[in-house]
Amino acid sequence: MHIFHTISGLREALQQHRKAGQRIGFVPTMGNLHDGHLALIHQARTTNDVVVCSIFVNALQFGLNEDWDKYPRTFDTDCEKLRGSACDYLFNPDEIEMYPNGLDTQSRVVCPTMTDILCGATRPGHFEGVTTVVSKLLNIVQPDEAVFGLKDYQQLAVVRRMIEDLCISVLITPAPIFRETDGLAMSSRNRYITEDERPNVTVLKTSLYEIADEILSGDRNFRRLEQSARERIEAHDFRADYVSIRQSKTLEIAAVDDTELTILGAMFTHGARLIDNLSIRLDNNAGLKEI
Ligand code: PAF
Repeated sequence: MHIFHTISGLREALQQHRKAGQRIGFVPTMGNLHDGHLALIHQARTTNDVVVCSIFVNALQFGLNEDWDKYPRTFDTDCEKLRGSACDYLFNPDEIEMYPNGLDTQSRVVCPTMTDILCGATRPGHFEGVTTVVSKLLNIVQPDEAVFGLKDYQQLAVVRRMIEDLCISVLITPAPIFRETDGLAMSSRNRYITEDERPNVTVLKTSLYEIADEILSGDRNFRRLEQSARERIEAHDFRADYVSIRQSKTLEIAAVDDTELTILGAMFTHGARLIDNLSIRLDNNAGLKEI
């Protein structure tokens, strides 16, 4: 695996693959890699000749009171994991390389829909930071395909919308949520969960799946289902941020006759904010759609 810290170095190295007509796959990350990230890289390898992974902890997407300072930076172990994976190139720029004119004056990519709801309501400015850095990374790597985890469903939906609106030529491919054996969705932030809380945090996932079961059995009282799930989460001593049944593509509040639904939830433990989601179809192929 080759490691580049500069945009020019990476671009030059990728040029030979482009000239040879090879497909380039890309997996953007903020590091602290776990098996979920490695699965994204593996997935990118199955449809591309070359795989690029980036590690950049993007200050622009963290709010003032968020975990920017303590976000785990584990570059050496990340490199070891990547060397054992299908990654060919690691792009690891520093902040000056990515934002040479400073964060405050950096041009931003604003995606006006979908970004101030759900996670965006609790984390103002977060998605503007994500769309800005993702568009920069896509311009730098110019991949044929970029793989994003379904765990960050809203991020995936926003990035897809940005690609469509800005005519960016890349295939965005979703990758399934990678889970611990008890069902907890893998996340770099799971390390903030305390030992006492750990057995109970799966209530987020089970509450969302319970909603899916109810809907698939014919219940269409969405607001009541959301409320029961929030109560279930709070009965386990966690603070529910939101539980919401949405239209899968636009993330608008789902209407009873929508056929592609995504059920999203977020909750606070003492030290972490956890998110999860699942999608269902209600047409002739009715069922779970965790791709
Ligand atoms: O999902 C992440 O890890 C980040 O939001 C991303 C896409 C790498 C942008 O910083």
